Amino acid sequence: MGSWAQHREEISGFIGKTIANTSELGNAIVLGAGNCDDLDFAFLGSLFESITLSDIDGQAMDEAVMRIDFLNLCREIHMIPNLVFSKLDLIYFYDRLEKMFIQRASANEINLFLSLAAKEIRAKDVLSHLKRSFSMVISSAVYSQIFYIHVLSLFAKFTDRYSENEVRYLMRGFLYLRDEVIKNYNDLMISLTKENGKILVWTDILQTDVEMNREIIENLYSINTDQDRWTYLRELVTMKGRELRFWDYRI
Ligand SMILES: C[S@@+](CC[C@H](N)C(=O)[O-])C[C@H]1O[C@@H](n2cnc3c(N)ncnc32)[C@H](O)[C@@H]1O
Repeated sequence: MGSWAQHREEISGFIGKTIANTSELGNAIVLGAGNCDDLDFAFLGSLFESITLSDIDGQAMDEAVMRIDFLNLCREIHMIPNLVFSKLDLIYFYDRLEKMFIQRASANEINLFLSLAAKEIRAKDVLSHLKRSFSMVISSAVYSQIFYIHVLSLFAKFTDRYSENEVRYLMRGFLYLRDEVIKNYNDLMISLTKENGKILVWTDILQTDVEMNREIIENLYSINTDQDRWTYLRELVTMKGRELRFWDYRI
């Protein structure tokens, strides 16, 4: 079985477990649908009356349309391509930030801009016409790609212009905006969800190689309770994972 097939099977398992009453067909939106490699559309088509796919990468979705026989597998399929969930495009964030780096703006000015950007995106709305429309909102590994990685790649070109202390200070600003972007994205998912609807999110939090994978699996098997397994995973992610934050979200 190819790695995508195995991944698809796991994802279908999550979706199946999340839906309490499979006899009632609802409608779903998949945020971060991209190439649509991780979704089993025959399975989704059997669960939902209509499925909406959205991603920043319109081309990946176009290619998926050519590859997958959606209309045979799903009753209704809708596409929202080229949508930026972070809303940063609406405030021309990356252009403005790059210009500031080029003009050698101070670390203070940049951090001020980052807090302003957080306020500006908060005031913007996307998909407001679809508020409370979906019985299931699915987010496919979007968290780790939505912002932080892009801002770090841009900053990497200009780090030599700042002292070590300034770099540390700027990193705090990026982390602050990252958390704001994620909060906005969580709010977007909540706003799309119908009353009693479900939100299903998965994300990559730890990059492993084959050797580390083996070690993690062995350690997990040697731990006896779910509570201790969870503690082990949290510690592992805190030590070696992508910088993370745990939120306590209540709808
Ligand atoms: C890890 S991929 C998900 C895999 C995808 N479902 C597939 O099967 O190909 C994350 C997806 O989120 C999309 N994405 C990342 N940042 C985004 C943003 N700010 N706005 C909208 N989509 C974004 C990427 O284009 C990518 O397709």
